[in-house]
Amino acid sequence: MTSRTTLHLSINGREHALALEPRVTLLDALRDHLGLTGTKKGCDQGQCGACTVHVDGRRVLACLTLAAQAEGQAVTTIEGLFEPEGRLHPVQAAFLEQDAFQCGYCTPGQIMSAIACIREGHARSDDEIREYMSGNLCRCGAYPHIVAAVRQAAEMAS
Ligand code: FES
Repeated sequence: MTSRTTLHLSINGREHALALEPRVTLLDALRDHLGLTGTKKGCDQGQCGACTVHVDGRRVLACLTLAAQAEGQAVTTIEGLFEPEGRLHPVQAAFLEQDAFQCGYCTPGQIMSAIACIREGHARSDDEIREYMSGNLCRCGAYPHIVAAVRQAAEMAS
């Protein structure tokens, strides 16, 4: 039996102490141990982007990150985007206005990537948005709407 260690994780501004095996990924810690199922498991091998979260403001794939690696850093998930008075984050609002999803499974990862893409200054053209969002796959093929949503949110942020 593998031993567990207590990890102290900061998720969406709240501190959590979790007894986990060292091999547990950040994705499984979020979904299975904290009930934060907004972060999706698609491929579980770093290829689809559905599990994208922010760690200290940088986008990471939670399926390729051990929970232990996130200790001492600020993790933000889709559940952590709420604005005062329950308003949507501007990128969430842009996804709604541009109809940038169909089944919605990839949407949390798309939105977390889009926020980082804009913050990184990589949303200055549609080509740039396509390149820097290319790690997030959409099986429904909503890409033109996703690009439009990122462009709209980037314009609002500038
Ligand atoms: Fe992490 Fe697909 S579930 S990249």
